Amino acid sequence: MKYFFLSYLFVIAIVVSAFGFRGSKSELSPLEIIPDMDQQAKVKYQASSEFFADGRGARLPVKGTLPMGFEVPAQPASATEIAKPARVAFTSGLGYYDTGKVGDFYGDGLPVEITNDKTVFNAEFIKRGEQRYNINCAICHGTSGNGKGVTSKYGILTAFNFQQAGNLDPANAAAYRADGAIFDVITHGKGLMGGYGGNITLRDRWAIVAYIRSLQIAAKESGATLPLQ
Ligand code: HEC
Repeated sequence: MKYFFLSYLFVIAIVVSAFGFRGSKSELSPLEIIPDMDQQAKVKYQASSEFFADGRGARLPVKGTLPMGFEVPAQPASATEIAKPARVAFTSGLGYYDTGKVGDFYGDGLPVEITNDKTVFNAEFIKRGEQRYNINCAICHGTSGNGKGVTSKYGILTAFNFQQAGNLDPANAAAYRADGAIFDVITHGKGLMGGYGGNITLRDRWAIVAYIRSLQIAAKESGATLPLQ
């Protein structure tokens, strides 16, 4: 047994001296037993590439690409002018539209920046909210808003249930969330939920709020929570 341990230590000493510890410094290129995709074929910044006809490695954005937080306005300013992308922004001010708050308190109702602009506030607005909700929220809160998204199947999270009884009654503190409060949770997160302010523009956050309300009203009108998952 003693010899077994001695030879075991000997083998470890050989292996360590041959390969070194991961992270130890050397001028030589490392010997990697499990390479973990550290080395892979790629085009480095500003490098040329024979793959493309123009010899450039870096590609220009695809025509019509918009930076996040920008959109092409539905109407160009004039018939001759090309529509310039308008900034719809992630955050800019301290008003209700940007924060969901009036002073220190959450406000309720959609902000006038949306309701006064008929090019924004129409059926498309709710559809946009539905799309954004299904992309960003449904995975945890469920397609119907019942808090049973895919994640609930793994028993990891208990996401808030938008379909609790009393969800349209401001007096019911357990189930009701003011529009501004939902907006604020999307922006900053709350408790176990992370914030989505960096991914979802201000306007889209309000569209999600409007869509959540429409889910709740639809459920109330039909007399039951939506069976959809
Ligand atoms: C990764 C899962 C996950 C995603 C995605 C997610 N949430 Fe949540 N959400 C939660 C969890 C978990 C809670 C409960 C947080 C707590 O009480 O600790 C919660 C709570 C909430 C609440 C209630 C907070 C309160 O006042 O008690 C609102 C409103 C909410 N989420 C809205 C949204 C909206 C809108 C989206 C999409 C933009 C979204 N969530 C995306 C997991 C998620």
